[in-house]
Order: sequence, then structure tokens, then C-alpha cells
Amino acid sequence: MEIDHKNIPKHIAVIMDGNGRWAKKIGKNRLFGHQNGVKAVRKLIEESARLNISYLTLFAFSTENWDRPKKEISTIMKLIVLVLKKELSTMMENNIKLETIGDLKKLPENVKSSLKETVNKTKKNNRLTLTIAINYGGKEDISNAFKLLLEKVKNNIISPKKIDELIINNHLYTRNLPDVDLLIRTSGEQRISNFLLWKIAYAELYFSNVLWPDFNEKCLHDAIISYQNRERRFGKTSEQIK
Ligand code: FPP
Repeated sequence: MEIDHKNIPKHIAVIMDGNGRWAKKIGKNRLFGHQNGVKAVRKLIEESARLNISYLTLFAFSTENWDRPKKEISTIMKLIVLVLKKELSTMMENNIKLETIGDLKKLPENVKSSLKETVNKTKKNNRLTLTIAINYGGKEDISNAFKLLLEKVKNNIISPKKIDELIINNHLYTRNLPDVDLLIRTSGEQRISNFLLWKIAYAELYFSNVLWPDFNEKCLHDAIISYQNRERRFGKTSEQIK
């Protein structure tokens, strides 16, 4: 089956899972798995731009990942800085804009400055918005929005009666992103793991058994073809949407 280029999901989100298991399978350490995960990230970004996907959101580091061994955390942080540095020219050539979601305050200074610099340099690009979720948790996103909103209520900037889905959305880290159309998770796990809770309300879920470093262009095509064969009803009946 071929991709239907007239029905490309606008927003794809990816939980890149299985780096550790991929490395273990070939007798290497977890860090080697993450290094190879980066190569798959690169392929995914370039293919997404080629397919005219407008929004690609990647889960690079969750609010829960701080519980991992220190060495692994510092490797992931180093890889993020390395990818940003190495991919800046690709992002400029392919007209890709970088955004971040998550609480950046807790990140090492060099990671913060590298993210800010890349966001700034790519801010005029408008073909693909690549959002990196880093120190991101879906529950934390929502509770942070609560904090911001309650502060406004306290200061009489917003009346509680006015609070609706749009206002809540506008206080999330993800406020500028459209709803997710397709959520992909690799490595056979079938969980959301606290990713993008608000924006996946009507996402199509796709679980692949491939471990993240092996995820290639063909795997992305398979996920999109699966998406294109689903009937998205958004609460309506099948007859209503035909
Ligand atoms: C999941 O595999 C992978 C991660 C938690 C980290 C992924 C991050 C990168 C590859 C860096 C990406 C950089 C950018 C800028 C997007 P796992 O360690 O949970 O694997 P396992 O479940 O097999 O142990």
C-alpha cells in the first residue's frame, strides 16, 4: 500500500522507546542505544519534512526520566545538545522551526542555552514545526496551567465562569500545537506514559514492535498508512461523516 498524499496527518507525536533494549540485544550498553536513537531521530525529521507533515513532536525526556542513572541522564542531555548543533543547518535548509515543551528551568545551563539559541535561529521557518518535549509530563503541563489560571482568577483577570477548553488550552505548554492526529510508540509497549494528555484526546494510536534505533522511513510510512485506513469519527456516527 502507498501513502495517500492528500491525507497526511497534520500533527504526529512520537514516543521513541526501546533504545536500551536495542543495545542490550547486541551486547552494548544503554548509552550506545541512545546514540543510535539519534540517527533514527534524524531520519524521522527529514522524512516528515519530505512528506509535508506540519507538526512533529518528540518525547526526548520526561519528568519521570530524572529517576534514571545519572550517567544515562547526562548522556541524553549531551546527545540533545549535539543533535541541536549538528542539525541546525538541516533545519535551516528544510525550513524547520524548533519549539520546546516542558519545564526548562531544571535543565543544565548548556542544554537550556542550546535549546533557546536553536529556537531563536529557526523561529522564522515555517514548513515543519519540530517540538521537543523535554522535562515534559502531561500531568505537569495541566497542573502548571491550573497554577497560571488560578493566579489570574485571584487577580480578577479571568472570571471562573469564563474558563472553558480554549482558555485551559491557552495556558498549556502545548498551546500553539494543534491536536495530535497520530501518536506513534515504538518497542511494543502500549502506553501513553504521561505524554501530551490534553492534545491526544482524539489521536489515533499506533504501536510498533520495532525498537527505536531501527525505526526508519518505511516504519513511518507504515504508521501513516495505518492511520489513513482508520475512520476518525470524533464522537459522530459512521453515517454522519460519510
Ligand atoms: C527511550 O528508550 C528513549 C529515551 C528515553 C531517550 C530518547 C532521546 C534521544 C534519542 C535523544 C533525542 C534528541 C532529540 C533532540 C530529539 P529507553 O531508554 O526507554 O529504552 P528501553 O525501554 O529499551 O530501556
